[in-house]
Amino acid sequence: MHNPYIPLLTEIKDIVSENKVNDLKTLELVFKKEEDYKAFTYIPGQFAEISLIGKGECPIGIASSPTEEDSIKFTIKKMGSVTTAFHNCEVGDIVGIRGPCGNGWPIDEMKNKNIVVIGGGFAFSTLRSLIIYMLDNKYRNNYKDITVIYGNRDSGEVLYRNDLDKWKKRNDLNVILTIDQEEKGWKEKVGFVAPVLKDVSPSPENAIAVVCGPPIMIKTTIAVLEELNFKDEQILNSLEMRMKCGIGKCGRCNIGNKFVCIDGPVFSLAELKKLPNEY
Ligand SMILES: Cc1cc2nc3c(=O)[nH]c(=O)nc-3n(C[C@H](O)[C@H](O)[C@H](O)COP(=O)(O)OP(=O)(O)OC[C@H]3O[C@@H](n4cnc5c(N)ncnc54)[C@H](O)[C@@H]3O)c2cc1C
Ligand code: FES
Repeated sequence: MHNPYIPLLTEIKDIVSENKVNDLKTLELVFKKEEDYKAFTYIPGQFAEISLIGKGECPIGIASSPTEEDSIKFTIKKMGSVTTAFHNCEVGDIVGIRGPCGNGWPIDEMKNKNIVVIGGGFAFSTLRSLIIYMLDNKYRNNYKDITVIYGNRDSGEVLYRNDLDKWKKRNDLNVILTIDQEEKGWKEKVGFVAPVLKDVSPSPENAIAVVCGPPIMIKTTIAVLEELNFKDEQILNSLEMRMKCGIGKCGRCNIGNKFVCIDGPVFSLAELKKLPNEY
């Protein structure tokens, strides 16, 4: 068995700058060894500990879907020392990966349900993974109606434009984009995610809402979902606690008796309400 502390080696195949201010980059990585790629089986919503020699390691959600074969993607916001080192990387550089870590979105429990995906800002990455997975020919029939509401501060912050363009052309999902304020040339919605969700008013009947974004967006969105009669069990969220080992050994990420790195990062609101308010 592979030692979970030893990173698998990958090489950067491509780097995409995702936003106008250039503090969000998507790195596409390919495994150096075919057997490592085969062993790295993940589901949407999981994350990995990714590292650069001499710079450090950090947990990052997997932005690609397992249905996108041959490579794996991470969208990284420049925050501090390690994420800045990732931003300074070039194609061909070596990146270590430990994982996949965490539970991921419950793609089996979500089967035969209407799925409402609600994202804000750059926390959209594991939602991208989920949407691409659900839209794959092999899996699309497993899910009923798919609604995506994706909000950003301004149009320059909208990630994954190629994917959004493709999704908008499909008739088997409803994609609603919004930005906080009016902008010349913007033809989609204007306003925060929560009021837009209220306008769209998805039915809670046989539905699951998957919510990812900054804390204020999560709070206001959950309030609207509750108004729409979504139950706590029907609302899923992914937490970003500080982490170290990513495998349930160091105790860095625990909330009460749960380790976010192995019991999460995905929790239902019902599960979160049973935990101490430390997240
Ligand atoms: C499960 C999980 C998934 C994540 N997915 C992504 C992702 O897809 N893309 C992405 O860009 N980031 C993601 N993060 C956050 C990312 O791990 C941190 O931004 C990163 O560890 C910061 O490292 P650094 O050395 O660059 O910054 P540091 O020098 O350690 O810190 C710089 C700043 O970042 C803040 N910070 C550090 N760690 C975190 C954290 N875990 N959460 C929030 N703020 C933090 C610090 O308070 C400080 O203000 C995820 C975190 C977790 C736990
Ligand atoms: S990060 Fe070590 S126990 Fe979760």
